[in-house]
Amino acid sequence: MSKTSCAVRLENVTKTFYLNNQEINVLKEVSFSIEKGSLNSIIGASGSGKTTLLNIIGALNIPTSGEVWLDNEKISEMSPKQLAWIRSRKLGYCFQSYNLIPVLNAYDNIELPLLITKTPQEERKERVQELLELVGLSHRDTHKPHELSGGEQQRVTIARALANSPEVLLADEPTGDLDEKTGERIISLLLDINKSISQTLIMVTHDKSIADLTDNIFEMHNGRLVDLH
Ligand SMILES: Nc1ncnc2c1ncn2[C@@H]1O[C@H](COP(=O)(O)OP(=O)(O)O)[C@@H](O)[C@H]1O
Ligand SMILES: [Mg+2]
Repeated sequence: MSKTSCAVRLENVTKTFYLNNQEINVLKEVSFSIEKGSLNSIIGASGSGKTTLLNIIGALNIPTSGEVWLDNEKISEMSPKQLAWIRSRKLGYCFQSYNLIPVLNAYDNIELPLLITKTPQEERKERVQELLELVGLSHRDTHKPHELSGGEQQRVTIARALANSPEVLLADEPTGDLDEKTGERIISLLLDINKSISQTLIMVTHDKSIADLTDNIFEMHNGRLVDLH
């Protein structure tokens, strides 16, 4: 893979946590790259380091050693201020528990990242409407999170994550809180988005049958990453 077609690249990334004077080596020399527009899953047992790895790719945490590149920028050496800029423009997050703002309706939740990047009002309005349509929720725009089903809340999260057209969309167990049928719909939506707008996607999942739908499967094993295909 040439460097310019690389959305994410990790070189010898390690992460060590210290708890009660004990050293926990959660990531051990992890190296891999993700091609732009590709669909990727990370599987592995609970506690194997999947979330830690995703948080490092997502600039939510920094590695103990090693290098992390996002869209050809080395983010592992950036200042907190630079990282905040990267997080709001180059990364989109959707997590198992949605993390929507409870007092804001679907429209306002999706608009939030656009306010952070100071997108002009007209453009914001157009973009939010486009995103609501993309996730099939135009008719639920005024609903607050508690007035939406779990699947609908996850759709809002996906729309919000895509607001600033991120380089990479990260999803940590996006179907973890959903029933099987709703989970399948969320996965098809993510796969459709990957295809229709060539959105690079990295998804953590417990479910091998979901992982089998992706281009590349990586497995975490005790802090080491194995490329399955
Ligand atoms: N902030 C932290 N401090 C100490 N240990 C942590 C911290 N975050 C995660 N861990 C440990 O790292 C290991 C991997 O966690 P995690 O990445 O959440 O795994 P997974 O997502 O695969 O279940 C676990 O043993 C967990 O207890
Ligand atoms: Mg996890």
